[in-house]
Amino acid sequence: MDASSETFEAKLAATAREIEAVLDILLSPAALNDEIARPEGLCSAMHYAVLNGGKRLRPFLVVETASLLGGDRSVALRVGAALECVHCYSLVHDDLPAMDDDDLRRGKPTVHIAYDEATAILAGDSLLTYAFDIIAAPETTLPDTAKVALTLALARAAGIGGMAGGQALDLAAEKQVPDEQGIVTLQAMKTGALIRFACEAGAIIAGASAEDRARLRQFGERIGLAFQLADDILDLTSDAATMGKATGKDAGRGKGTLVALHGIAWAETKLAEHVCEAEALLSAYAERSIILAEAARFIAGRKS
Ligand code: IPE
Ligand code: IPE
Ligand code: MG
Ligand code: MG
Ligand code: MG
Repeated sequence: MDASSETFEAKLAATAREIEAVLDILLSPAALNDEIARPEGLCSAMHYAVLNGGKRLRPFLVVETASLLGGDRSVALRVGAALECVHCYSLVHDDLPAMDDDDLRRGKPTVHIAYDEATAILAGDSLLTYAFDIIAAPETTLPDTAKVALTLALARAAGIGGMAGGQALDLAAEKQVPDEQGIVTLQAMKTGALIRFACEAGAIIAGASAEDRARLRQFGERIGLAFQLADDILDLTSDAATMGKATGKDAGRGKGTLVALHGIAWAETKLAEHVCEAEALLSAYAERSIILAEAARFIAGRKS
């Protein structure tokens, strides 16, 4: 590991701790105004699903894109926490027996194993809903127009035309492998959409120009594709002890991935292309965007 990646990992870890502190408060057992009660088992499962390790890369991207454009850090941390709730919900449901049927996540038993299937489903439902609560709540000190923009962008990224739709296409791809464009589309949806949102959210929080917002959105698209490509390579080349989740699953389930279609060497070349394109989009910001360029390289070169 060279000095710059050490610095990047230290910064990622420091922001992860800040995000976890926000999440820990948000997921406390005490009911909020207008909530009737927080059932203990469900609240505990949500806490387990979220505060269990994880790189916190999506919140990091929210915080760093907001910082690049002059957005408020405490607001970015709350929006990052909201996005992490959606991401963790997607993992809890992704691991369910009806989906990827996985027992291990972030090095620990998955939520449906540690609790039960119904609790895992409800923990996912509650995390998704809570994300919108966190954005709308008065503690997120943004103008209402910005809150509406974040709500709309997150809904579109998480729902039928984004992550959940991508998960549906991903399951269908186990039965009939799509062509290359079909795989790119499903990956842009299942993984790319939330990562794109992370980058666009920073611009919304900062009240940035339409040009900056579009540029960061494109940056998010590139690194989103890189992220899933790296995940698919690691599924083939890494092991459960390193990844904290089962590996070799995609080939085992006959999953349509670009790695399955074109092989590892092709995928690694493509990954480098995505990173190059992502870095080129940042050139307008010169050295102020170094940390985002490092994030793009980290996504491509990560080991877990
Ligand atoms: C895993 O995401 C799920 C995919 C989209 C491939 P991460 O690799 O970001 O998982 P955590 O949050 O660090 O556990
Ligand atoms: C899952 O993709 C993406 C989402 C959770 C939306 P994978 O199924 O490849 O993720 P892992 O490998 O289980 O983390
Ligand atoms: Mg999956
Ligand atoms: Mg999975
Ligand atoms: Mg995977």
